[in-house]
Amino acid sequence: MSGEISFARGAPSLDIIDVEGLQRAAAQALAEDPGGATAYGTAVGYLPLRSWIAERHNVAPEQVIVTNGSMQADALLFERLVGEASEVIVERPTYDRTLLALSQRGARLQAIDLAADGLEIGALEQLLAGGARPALAHVIPNFQNPAGCTLSREKREALLALAERHDFMVFEDDPYAALSFSGEVPPTMLSMAPERVTYASSFSKTVCPGVRVGYLVGSEELIGEITRLATGTYISPNMLAQAIVYRFCAGGALERSIERVRAALAERAKALSEALCEALPELDFNRPEGGYFLWARLPEGLDVEDLHRAAIERGVIFVKGTDFMLEGGERHLRLAYSGVGIEQIRAGVGRLAEAWRSLR
Ligand SMILES: Cc1ncc(COP(=O)(O)O)c(C=O)c1O
Repeated sequence: MSGEISFARGAPSLDIIDVEGLQRAAAQALAEDPGGATAYGTAVGYLPLRSWIAERHNVAPEQVIVTNGSMQADALLFERLVGEASEVIVERPTYDRTLLALSQRGARLQAIDLAADGLEIGALEQLLAGGARPALAHVIPNFQNPAGCTLSREKREALLALAERHDFMVFEDDPYAALSFSGEVPPTMLSMAPERVTYASSFSKTVCPGVRVGYLVGSEELIGEITRLATGTYISPNMLAQAIVYRFCAGGALERSIERVRAALAERAKALSEALCEALPELDFNRPEGGYFLWARLPEGLDVEDLHRAAIERGVIFVKGTDFMLEGGERHLRLAYSGVGIEQIRAGVGRLAEAWRSLR
């Protein structure tokens, strides 16, 4: 197999995107609500989609703003809550773009390590006992990017109790919740303590990223403030895309798409895990139970920078652990299996093993 094989991007491959379903949803959106789909609208987003999301989360529509991808929801939330020198708790490792967005705002980031069942709550307790006063704790609760782990129900309760005691907000960044291979995830923290949580999710991982539709759920007051910020920035989000997503969801295509994506991801995660076990037995990792990513640890003495360079030379790419941490990560790598088929996975692992051997 020639051409580059990419384990780098957390995006679905074209064969698992329901293009025909999107075509039908687009035709329906334009036929049934041409006015709504083509107008500016307002910053809260396309109203039928906003109501659909509100119902899914059992909140009032006024508690929801639908944005151009959840990255925009993050940016608006940070603009409202994170100032120069605000303390923010992040997971270690965490999504590189979140680190970048928070660092650019001048936030003082406090990183808490992840265990197999999510955030090390003891370490967070210690940090808070030592006088930390965070405005916000950013947490990716399900199939974390990049670590793949899921925050246990007990730890969700413990985190919410700490948020209550120390008066900070939990930012639950949750684009992977629907992609559990067993079909199960603990309840959202939003449902457990709505007054302590602002919640973001996205259609990027379950429908397609190009549609750029995500959302934020929070208190009516906060969503109102964020809506004013959004109005001043762009008047309204992409109404046509939101009208298409609404038809896609309301017509039942979303559930089918989730099933298809989930089945493909489970198969790819299995193929990747098996190929790695066979070709690189020294690589340490947990088998993914959902989501897009496999997070792996190199043995002592092997640096991810060197492996990355050798891998690129052999036409295979992944993301270095160092991208997901403020410091450290030299022995970690993230392999995304969402954008590659089974054949490519096997060939890609073969190239990775060659790269590895070239360094040993
Ligand atoms: C944790 C997390 N949040 C947000 C996003 C971005 O989502 P969107 O495409 O909706 O902007 C991603 C995408 O990789 C992600 O992993």
